[in-house]
Amino acid sequence: MAARTWDRTLETGIEDLDAHHRILFDTLSRLRAAAGAGRTAEAQDVVYFLRDFCVQHFLEEQELMVRSAYPGDPAHRAAHAEAAREVDLLLDRLRSGAAALTPGILDGLDAWLVKHIREEDFRLAEFLVRAGAPEEKEPS
Ligand SMILES: [Fe+2]
Ligand SMILES: [Fe+2]
Repeated sequence: MAARTWDRTLETGIEDLDAHHRILFDTLSRLRAAAGAGRTAEAQDVVYFLRDFCVQHFLEEQELMVRSAYPGDPAHRAAHAEAAREVDLLLDRLRSGAAALTPGILDGLDAWLVKHIREEDFRLAEFLVRAGAPEEKEPS
């Protein structure tokens, strides 16, 4: 499957989060290109970046949840923790040579991100906009 790219159907309306999501999709595209060309060391570096960037992005969303007393916080936070564990596990397996970045793994990462944005992140963004969060985007 070709790399998934960010498009308007994934827009939450919270500018910071949308910018992060674009970077996440770009990172997954870079990962797919490196893996497809057999550039293993580069692919591993991209997975390190992915892990660090996910942690940063998840923390930012979680701060928004705390600040707005978001009722979906525990479930959303648990989904982040599970994803971070999966990326860590993938990194360990790549480092030890026990796994390769197969198309199945890459498609799974894309699919997780799309599903998470459309479900958890959309619910959070909707709540923040209704609560009048300052991050609300001006109508265009
Ligand atoms: Fe997100
Ligand atoms: Fe999220």
